[in-house]
Amino acid sequence: MGLKHKILITGGAGFIGSHVVRRFVRNYPDYEIVNLDKLTYAGNLENLKDIAEAPGYRFIKGDIVDLDFLEKLFSENIFTGIIHLAAESHVDRSILDPLNFINTNLLGTANLLHMANEQMKYNPSFSCFYHISTDEVYGSLGKEGLFTEESPYDPRSPYSASKAGSDHLVRAFYHTYGLPVVVSNCSNNYGPNQFPEKLIPLVINNIKNSRELPVYGKGENIRDWLYVEDHAAAIDLIFHEGNKGETYNIGGNNEWKNLDLVKLLCEIMDEKLERAKGESEKLIRFVKDRPGHDLRYAIDASKIESELGWQPGLDFKNALSATVDWYLDNQDWLDHILSGEYESYYEKQYL
Ligand code: NAD
Ligand code: TYD
Repeated sequence: MGLKHKILITGGAGFIGSHVVRRFVRNYPDYEIVNLDKLTYAGNLENLKDIAEAPGYRFIKGDIVDLDFLEKLFSENIFTGIIHLAAESHVDRSILDPLNFINTNLLGTANLLHMANEQMKYNPSFSCFYHISTDEVYGSLGKEGLFTEESPYDPRSPYSASKAGSDHLVRAFYHTYGLPVVVSNCSNNYGPNQFPEKLIPLVINNIKNSRELPVYGKGENIRDWLYVEDHAAAIDLIFHEGNKGETYNIGGNNEWKNLDLVKLLCEIMDEKLERAKGESEKLIRFVKDRPGHDLRYAIDASKIESELGWQPGLDFKNALSATVDWYLDNQDWLDHILSGEYESYYEKQYL
């Protein structure tokens, strides 16, 4: 009989983490899944209420920056793997408060690497430290070209720089100590449970409330959008089958200019809310550009496609429409978030 997996998932109460935790709890009922999350403004246990009582699943509230806390956690648990998603994740917040990003993303990752490395000395069953990262570490593309795993790092925001630094630390632990690591760099995700500070849920929420739709600059920046379940499927595959020491780029092959995406959301929502065609587009406002705003991200995902057989599964317009439905059907989830510190952030950022 194979060894029983006990996996530490960090940031499991956040957007992507909650989809990863649910997928692992459902697909691998014989694994123990420990979800470690600080529950910052972005962490929300409501994201996981359907699996909160599942056998083999446990939530622990804690901070990856707190080394004493991690020492206790690792002294009480022998992990076979770690999937590390905990991070400060929003570029605009990183411009307002860079040190918080350096603390969590850089120091927090260093702490986890150190603990995994210490435990590996007496735990031969430790098989994988999987670091979840972003395509933003590669910087900004012009109109042509794609990021490959060989693209040089060129981060431009405190968020992307802190993620780039954490990627380097992960690879340093592989080369120096032989820690079995794997890294993936993914494009922009969308789907249910995304905090409404990010473009798609912010626009959905604002259209619904007939609030202005802030488009940075001229809306010409381009992002490659991937449905969160497709990312979770890639994470599952890489965790189980990815080669150690390797990096995998993950993307949707689905580039959209921000303004076109906002207009598409307006069109979808006019229909769903039974508003006159063109009604929501009137809410679009061009606002001051984000400092250091990367022009374009786009991913060459051919490595994960050819080596591990992964493909983005969902048609964009259908998945976007399903995402809008989720936000319209889950007003309680939104209300709980919007009653928190969201408004004060919104005022700082937009008003
Ligand atoms: P998120 O902000 O929704 O969730 C982050 C989670 O980490 C939250 O639950 C938060 O409470 C937790 N957290 C933050 N600081 C912590 C700390 N010090 N200790 C423990 N937990 C802490 O983020 P997300 O969008 O789900 O992103 C998850 C990961 O995926 C991040 O590492 C991010 O860089 C990466 N990523 C995100 C995207 C995207 O489009 N959202 C794309 C590529 C990669
Ligand atoms: P975002 O969702 O913050 O993701 P990222 O910055 O990590 O790509 O933003 C996506 C794009 O949308 C980005 O080019 C910035 C732009 N944007 C706006 O135009 N208005 C907004 O209010 C937000 C939040 C983002």
